[in-house]
Amino acid sequence: PFDKEDASRIWSEVAHSNLTLEQLFTNSHRTDLEEHKFPREIRKVKISIDSLSPIGAVQTVLAEQKVCVLKGEEKKRLPGVLYNLFEAGSEVVIAPLVVRERTAGIVLADNAFHNRPVNEATLEFFSLVLGLGGLALGNAMEYRETKQNLEKLEQLNETLRNVQAELVACERLAAIGKISTYLAHEIRNPLVAIGGFVRQILGMDDAQQIQRNVRIINSEIVRLERVLNNLLRFSSPMQPVKERVLLAEIFESLEPVLKTQAEQRNVTLTFDVPGDIVVFVDRVQMNEVIYNLVMNALENTQTSGKVAISARGGSDFVRIEVEDTGCGISPENLKKVFDPFFTTKLHGTGLGLAVVKAIVEEHHGGKVGVSSELGKGTKVHILIPKGGEHEETIADRG
Ligand SMILES: Nc1ncnc2c1ncn2[C@@H]1O[C@H](COP(=O)(O)OP(=O)(O)O)[C@@H](O)[C@H]1O
Ligand SMILES: [Mg+2]
Repeated sequence: PFDKEDASRIWSEVAHSNLTLEQLFTNSHRTDLEEHKFPREIRKVKISIDSLSPIGAVQTVLAEQKVCVLKGEEKKRLPGVLYNLFEAGSEVVIAPLVVRERTAGIVLADNAFHNRPVNEATLEFFSLVLGLGGLALGNAMEYRETKQNLEKLEQLNETLRNVQAELVACERLAAIGKISTYLAHEIRNPLVAIGGFVRQILGMDDAQQIQRNVRIINSEIVRLERVLNNLLRFSSPMQPVKERVLLAEIFESLEPVLKTQAEQRNVTLTFDVPGDIVVFVDRVQMNEVIYNLVMNALENTQTSGKVAISARGGSDFVRIEVEDTGCGISPENLKKVFDPFFTTKLHGTGLGLAVVKAIVEEHHGGKVGVSSELGKGTKVHILIPKGGEHEETIADRG
């Protein structure tokens, strides 16, 4: 209330209406509080905490976080400015406004309008109102902090998105660069050769000479096809079509080709693949994996070296190993062997192991690993999950 009349109006309103506490608060929201009616002096009061007497009432309330009632002479314990403002009442209540467990301020009230002693019920009500006020303030602060945190988080996210986009752009550029170099090298050479031999043919009469040139041209075309196939398989690997296959069957179909390659290099190639391991895989892709691994082993193994292929079935995974007694890989290169286009060979594509990794890990949910020692040899292993249908026995296939 602003004055005695205002107070009695409020009290009679409260007395004659059946308002709940909540309605009372809602209805009594007074915009005119901020206007001229509110005692100007109060708004001007500024008290520095340092200037307060340590034994004064305000300090005690701040320190103890407890409500304090000053009666009569006790009012002198108020700081001078406040004492003047609360002159009219015979009793003054000082209470802490606690926000998030810390005293955020104090609230003073007196009994100037009715001059009746402040009783327990009034104090309880006063504490309740302050408690609610403190909670509301705390919530508001928390809300503001959460909002600020969210904004910060959003900013961080934004930064992250930008950095990521830049990174992707960089990687794409780098990949395009590598592809261009690869294509320039791998396609230009055969093209130049083909062009040269074709131009020779244009001035030739001798059928045998022409035949010879055409054969060379054909082999260059085969090379071009291989380059393109590799690149295509790498850039858009086909979705796997999985089926239950006997692992030994895959090796059997590859054996003739691999044996021939091994013999040409005078390398001993051995297979140790149990006949009863069933895998749930894309047959063609798995062929390619084994072929790439064994060819790598053969290409890096000197004459009279050994390449051993083995497979073992576990409860959940099948482990296939290709081990060679070849030149080995340096620790530095070992980190890069799965990178697309990484090759140490003059005519390598650098795509073999990248394709192996994509097929095994992305298409089959497996894992590829490589260990190597320079000058001693290399071992590449792959783990293939047995897949959802492994409870079915081989006999079920009919
Ligand atoms: N068994 C191996 N022994 C030694 N080095 C290997 C072996 N397998 C792969 N590498 C190394 O990894 C590189 C990448 O292999 P890969 O991706 O198949 O491409 P490419 O065979 O065309 O070079 C090879 O150039 C070679 O340096
Ligand atoms: Mg290779």
